[in-house]
Amino acid sequence: MDLEAIDPRRVPAHIACVMDGNGRWAEKRGLPRTAGHAAGEEALYEVVNAAIDLGIKWLTVYAFSTENWKRPPDEVRWLLNFNEQSLLRRQAELHERGVRIRFAGRRDRKVPRRLVRRMDDASALTADNRTLTFTIAFNYGGRAEIVDAVRKLVADGVPANRIDERAIARHLYDPDMPDPDLVIRTSGEHRISNFLLWELAYSELFFTEVLWPDFRGEHLVEAVREYQQRERRFGAI
Ligand code: FPP
Repeated sequence: MDLEAIDPRRVPAHIACVMDGNGRWAEKRGLPRTAGHAAGEEALYEVVNAAIDLGIKWLTVYAFSTENWKRPPDEVRWLLNFNEQSLLRRQAELHERGVRIRFAGRRDRKVPRRLVRRMDDASALTADNRTLTFTIAFNYGGRAEIVDAVRKLVADGVPANRIDERAIARHLYDPDMPDPDLVIRTSGEHRISNFLLWELAYSELFFTEVLWPDFRGEHLVEAVREYQQRERRFGAI
C-alpha cells in the first residue's frame, strides 16, 4: 500500500462502504453468486486491515439490506449462514487488532436468533477496543432507521416541539457514531440504495468501477487520496 500520497492529518475519521458487485464478479467467472460473496468477504477483511493501517477510526459496511430478503431464498439462507460463520472465523483476529465490532440494523424476527446471539457475543468481546470501530449494517435500511428513531422518540413521550435534528440523531441505531466523511460504492453503480440516509447528508461520495471482490487496500488509498483533494464546505462558502 502506497501511503506516500496521503496526508496523515487529513485522513477521514469514518468511511462507509457499499460492497457491490459480488454477483457480477462471480457471473463473469461462471461461478455461483455465492462464490462472489465469499470472495467479497476476503476483500472486506483486507479493507479492514488497510483501514487500520491508514489510521481510520470508523468503518461501516453494508452487509445485508432490509431489501435483500427479496433475493432467492437459497441466496438469503446462504448469506445468513455465511455472515455467522464469517463472524466466528474472524472475531478473534479482529479483537487482537483492536477492532470494536458493532452492528446496525433491525433486530426483527427475520434475523435468526442464533445469528443475533453471535452478533451480541462479538460486540461484547470487542466492546473495549478503540483502534477501529467496525460496524456491520445488517438487516439495515436508512429509512427504517429513521422510522425506528421516530418511534423511540414517540415511545419516550418526547413532545413535538422538542423533536429536532439532535433528538433524531440521538435515537439512531448508534448515537456515538460520527457521520461518515466518505462513502465508497463499488461496481460502477451510482446510487445510495437506502444506506445511512440520515448520516451521509454531507459525506463525500466516491464511486469506482472495481467490483467489490477485487477491492483492495490500494483502492482504499486511492479513495482517501481523492477525498483529500475535495473541499468540504458543509453548506458554507
Ligand atoms: C452486493 O453484491 C453484496 C451483498 C448483498 C452482500 C455483501 C456481502 C459480503 C461482501 C460478504 C461478506 C460480509 C460479511 C459482513 C461477512 P451483489 O450481490 O448485489 O452483486 P451484483 O450487484 O453484482 O449482483
